[in-house]
Amino acid sequence: MELSLPAGFPTQVFVEEAPRASLLPTGSWTLVGDDAVRPAWRGAGLPEPPGTLWVPVSEASKRLSTLEPWLETWAGIPLTRHSTVVAVGGGVLTDMAGLAAALYMRGIAWQAWPTTLLAQVDAGLGGKTACDLAAGKNLAGAFHPPVSFVACRSFLATLPPRQLESGAWELFKMAVLEGDVPWAERLLLPGVPEASSLLRALHAKAGIVHRDLREAGERRLLNLGHTLGHALEAASGYALLHGEAVGLGTLAAMLLAEAQGLEPFPRDFKARTAERLRHLLPAIPPWEACLPLLRVDKKSGPEGERSGPTAIHCILPRPRTTADVRALPPEVWRDVHARMGALLNDPEMTT
Ligand SMILES: NC(=O)c1ccc[n+]([C@@H]2O[C@H](COP(=O)([O-])OP(=O)(O)OC[C@H]3O[C@@H](n4cnc5c(N)ncnc54)[C@H](O)[C@@H]3O)[C@@H](O)[C@H]2O)c1
Repeated sequence: MELSLPAGFPTQVFVEEAPRASLLPTGSWTLVGDDAVRPAWRGAGLPEPPGTLWVPVSEASKRLSTLEPWLETWAGIPLTRHSTVVAVGGGVLTDMAGLAAALYMRGIAWQAWPTTLLAQVDAGLGGKTACDLAAGKNLAGAFHPPVSFVACRSFLATLPPRQLESGAWELFKMAVLEGDVPWAERLLLPGVPEASSLLRALHAKAGIVHRDLREAGERRLLNLGHTLGHALEAASGYALLHGEAVGLGTLAAMLLAEAQGLEPFPRDFKARTAERLRHLLPAIPPWEACLPLLRVDKKSGPEGERSGPTAIHCILPRPRTTADVRALPPEVWRDVHARMGALLNDPEMTT
């Protein structure tokens, strides 16, 4: 079904149980896809146009050098400025293909067909495309929204359970951002989340992105769980998956909001969240490894940016209402990091 979105939103958004060939481009197009999804694509009888590329994907491959052969292939087909690129894969593939589409002839249309839960909830929608640099993740990129976004739930059938769970934490983040505890509780249940959750999260994200594409204000709310989450993910040497780090970061943000005097989330809810995250405890890096990464967070306040900010934007969630945003010193996360560790050790403890 097609999501109803604000007039002028640049992307048509579809959530389908199974892929539909009728949603593919009608004119000249090509495909770049994650090797891991090729059997499912072929199994569904979907077309592979001239120049189709199925590529091995990992975060390590998310480099500008990966894109050049794609662009050369597209020029050889040739794709014109009226052609469309269809990107089939997880967030790494859709980020790279979106950036390649932004570069080819200074920007051609592309469709996102996200195949991980994380990309269906988050990475495939919103216009951010990127590759990594040695200095950090996603540092070379462009805002280039896809013309359509087609999330097919059947692709999730082959996704490793750990990847599925990782993506579910991004959905959980959206529920906590809205302060909707019953919704967030449902997302703590194992398995593929119901389609209605995906539709609701995409609708919320699309609204925010439409009002603030370039993250000058409201879009920062989507960084809930990412402030400490990014630091945990990087300091773990990426042993923690992105969504896992966001889950931990969202729990930490609940604890920080409370410490800042905001209304606490119910104790049972925090305990259940901690229970679901408990197995990650051994992968959580020590506070000393996180602090330098918080200090160079690219979402830091204007005060310091990369030279050691005095304050960073912290998204503080609250029950039954939207989150608050405060500029706070990175050191406020020290106690929260310790309390989160204690809570994961013993979810029954009083927070
Ligand atoms: N653009 C954005 O707004 C945005 C937002 C969040 C994350 N991201 C980016 O997304 C990336 C992470 O995305 P991800 O979690 O989807 O990781 P990913 O793309 O690396 O996919 C995870 C793994 O699953 C495999 N895979 C993909 N689909 C599959 C399927 N249907 N069945 C079996 N295996 C499958 C992939 O080959 C890979 O091994 C990061 O690079 C992050 O920076 C971007």
